[in-house]
Amino acid sequence: MEENFFDRVGGAQTFENLVSHFYALVSIDPILRPMYPDEDLKAAAERLSLFLQQYWGGPHTYSDTRGHPRLRARHAQFPINLAARDAWIRAMKSAVDDLEIDLADREELWSYLEMAAHSMVNLPD
Ligand code: HEM
Repeated sequence: MEENFFDRVGGAQTFENLVSHFYALVSIDPILRPMYPDEDLKAAAERLSLFLQQYWGGPHTYSDTRGHPRLRARHAQFPINLAARDAWIRAMKSAVDDLEIDLADREELWSYLEMAAHSMVNLPD
């Protein structure tokens, strides 16, 4: 049987590494940090990790606990202008670049995340 993306890149651990690197950068980012309501970013990190695991063929825990992703609707309450999008992209790029995965997988992951970030903008600059 052909392995799916989730298994191929190392399963849950890889997504946990990605998201923990990303949130370490969010926690010191002057644009992004104020947008995250919780003092502790752990719950937000868990939601993003579970969403990405599900998207890439892993367990469906995200939808089992959070329902349908509806990502644009869920982000409508946050002011995502181009500067916020670019800050998100910068932090995520650094996290993706740090993963030890094959080049083709890295490119596939990155092109999805970048496209998704562009689609989340909901405010002009
Ligand atoms: C473009 C810039 C983006 C900004 C500024 C942003 C910001 C945020 C904020 C402030 C939250 C709330 C944190 C929390 O869960 O408590 C959130 C949640 C979330 N974001 Fe983003 N986000 C962006 C793009 C993305 C993208 C591209 C994805 C997916 C590829 C994504 C996936 C998620 C998920 C899954 C959640 C949790 C939703 C839930 O279950 O409530 N975000 N985001």
